[in-house]
Formats: sequence, C-alpha cells, structure tokens
Amino acid sequence: MAIDSALVSGKLAIDGGEPVKTTPNYPMYPGGMEIGEEEKKLVMEVLDHKYLFRYYGPKEYPSKVRELEVQWADKMGVKYALAVNSCTSALISSLVALGVGPGAEVIVPGYTFFASCASIVGAKAIPVIAEVDRSLTLDPADVEKKITDRTKAIIAVHMRGVPCKMDELMAISRKHKVPILEDVAQACGGSYKGKMLGSFGECNAFSLQYHKIITAGEGGIVTTNDALLNDRAMAYHDTAACWRPDRFGLPRYEGEVFPGVNFRMSELHGAVALAQLGKLDNLLAGMRRNKKRIKEQIAGIDGLEFREVNDEAGDTAICLVFFLPDEEITRKFGPALKAEGVDAGCIFDKGVPDWHVYAHWKMIIDKVTATPEGCPYTCSYYQGPTPEYTPDMNPNTLALLSRTIHMDIPPRMDERDCDMVATAVQKVAKAYL
Ligand SMILES: Cc1ncc(COP(=O)(O)O)c(C=O)c1O
Repeated sequence: MAIDSALVSGKLAIDGGEPVKTTPNYPMYPGGMEIGEEEKKLVMEVLDHKYLFRYYGPKEYPSKVRELEVQWADKMGVKYALAVNSCTSALISSLVALGVGPGAEVIVPGYTFFASCASIVGAKAIPVIAEVDRSLTLDPADVEKKITDRTKAIIAVHMRGVPCKMDELMAISRKHKVPILEDVAQACGGSYKGKMLGSFGECNAFSLQYHKIITAGEGGIVTTNDALLNDRAMAYHDTAACWRPDRFGLPRYEGEVFPGVNFRMSELHGAVALAQLGKLDNLLAGMRRNKKRIKEQIAGIDGLEFREVNDEAGDTAICLVFFLPDEEITRKFGPALKAEGVDAGCIFDKGVPDWHVYAHWKMIIDKVTATPEGCPYTCSYYQGPTPEYTPDMNPNTLALLSRTIHMDIPPRMDERDCDMVATAVQKVAKAYL
C-alpha cells in the first residue's frame, strides 16, 4: 500500500504543516461531470425533430422519455417506470398512488434530505420521524416502535448511497401490512443481496437532479411492479391524463383517474437521462474501486469505525463515512482533514443548518403550513394525538451524526488521489486518536 509514513508523521496542515493532498478535488457530480457526446446526440435528435413533448410533436417520433422508462424498468428489474420532473414529485406521486392522504402517518428517517419528509406533508399526511442506525439508514427496531394503525407507508431512504436493511424492513412491512416506499435518490444503481434498489418497495422514487449519480439536471422516476399503482401514479403526475388510451373515456376501475398535477418530464430531460443511464455502471465501478482502495489503507485505525453498509456489494460507494470516539474529536478531525486537502467534513453540528438532519427541519418542528388552517396537523381525519416534533426527539440519530466524518468519492479520482486521501486520514488519526 502506498501510505507514506514520513507524511503521516508530519505536522498537521491545520497547525501550519504541509497538506498531504496536493491534487485538486473533483466536484461530486458523478454523472454531471461526464456529460458529453452521448447526451448531445440524443438532445440534438429531440431538437432536430422539434419533438419536445412526450405525447406529440409535428411528426410521429419515438419519445425519449418513453424509451427512458423502458430501459429504466429493465435496469432496475421492475415492471413499470414512470418518468417525472423530480424525486420529490416521484415521492408525492408514489404516496398518492399508495392511497396516502388525510389522516395517514408516514414513517421517514431523521437523516435524509428534507424532501423525503416534505413530500409527506405534500401528500397531506403526517410525518413520523424515526431513528437511523449505524448504517445511517432507517433503524428497523425504531420503525417497529413507531408503527400505529394510522401508518400508511414507510419511506426507506438509501442514504448516502448505502442500502437500508431491506430484509428487516420488508418483514416489518409484511407483518403490519404497511407498504415500503424506497427513496433511491442517493443510491441509483445500488442493490441489496443481489436485488436492485428501487425494486423492493410497492412504489419507489429516484432522482435525476444534478448532484445525483446520474442526472438530467432535474428529473425523477417512480418504479413499481404493480399495474394499479403505476396507473395511479401516472394519473397524478399528469393532470390531463394524456396517457390513457382514450383520454375522455370512463375510468377502467374505481380509483384509476382523479385530478392530479403536472409532474411530467420533458423530452430534453428524457434525452439526457437516457444517455446518462448508459453511463451508470462505469460510474459505480469507479466509485467502488476508489472507495475500496481508500478503505483498505485506513482499516484498523484504533478509534475509527466505518459506517455499516448493510451489503458491501450493493453500496454505490458515493462516499466514505466513519465514526470517531466522540463529538469533540470529530469537531477537530473534520477541519484538520479538510486542511490536508481532502474534501471531507463533519456531518452534524447543532449550530450549522443542514437540510439533511431532522433537528434542522424547522418547518416541520414548528408545523409551518401553507395556509393558516394548519393541515395536515389539524386535519379532522387524523385520529392520533396532536403530532409534536422537537430537535432532540431522535437522540440516537444525533449522537451518531455528531461523531461522523463524511467524504465524497468522485469516480474520477485516480490511485494517487486515493492514496493521498488515505495518507491524510492516517496523519490526522495519528495526531488525534
Ligand atoms: C434522499 C433524497 N430524497 C429526495 C431528494 C429530492 O430530490 P429532487 O431534488 O430530485 O426532488 C433528494 C435530493 O437531494 C435526496 O437526497
């Protein structure tokens, strides 16, 4: 291994020494950084045909959005994929398809991007915020504790690229007859025990926003194996229900059609997403190779414990996350690593706002709503106790996050970049652990 012991013993950069990592850090836009000829070709086809809308154009032309749906379903091992304009839209369409609405509770982890929780309010239901475990994904034991007869869905977020404990969550789902909705925004292409993420839940939501593994700038996908759920998500995502064979015909079954919104994906986004889907495997291979190389070189450091990944082979490897013994060391470790030139940092600081930690979701904690009536919290269909949220309601989550270090693993890093990162971690660990 390529750890340079002289560098490890050197003076910390934060104390005025030389930084270990001298190469630039790549921005963490894995797919975005690979935008190239493939995307341009498909986008130009759309423009050349003046076919910007999936359902019609000046002349018949095969829709890129439709092609994306077909290829996406095939890749993720599901029967149906529905392209929408964001993951938030995918989450809301999924919740609506599942019949979540006034009176329902939905369980969501306390560590996820705010959108996972906001989508529940968007579907007029009550968020119930649960603990994460040492994988920083939903803690199945806490989910079980928080289930009530009002729970209508569990949002399993594969946070920071790592699969949730799907065996345990699926068992809870079966036992209580509560559907799982996977939030795969950060883990596109990941798997759990050989099965693709986004193929476990009754409905699942992906993101194609710019920060994600593959991207169209904005975009999302709903996946499901259930024809009725697909129909309902489709109806909701397209208020005019253009998809139906006869858009003015009678519903084929009760609950098929109802007024929705417009979450449709444009052909330009479909073209970019289609080209990006073809790049997914290479991106994953790059991140997995880099993460493995760094991990091998820092394994066994006393006091440094890797985050549980639930299934090593299914981890997308977008980042490396580890725990340190306490908050005080973590507060010093993050900035010291950054000073060594590594794009790393602490995950949680009470004083620093972050949309990924529930304690900062002030709009949920204060039950802020768009109109003064206070729905969904005051909805008369809701039969549970008045929901109360506090910043310290999930103490295990905050305790874990406050001693967590996070670093991105861009696929473009080469061996030298990885070795410098590993050396920098060794150096800071030697000084602080
Ligand atoms: C876990 C998670 N869920 C949902 C979203 C929302 O995605 P979008 O911006 O596509 O609506 C994000 C975006 O960052 C996310 O990280």
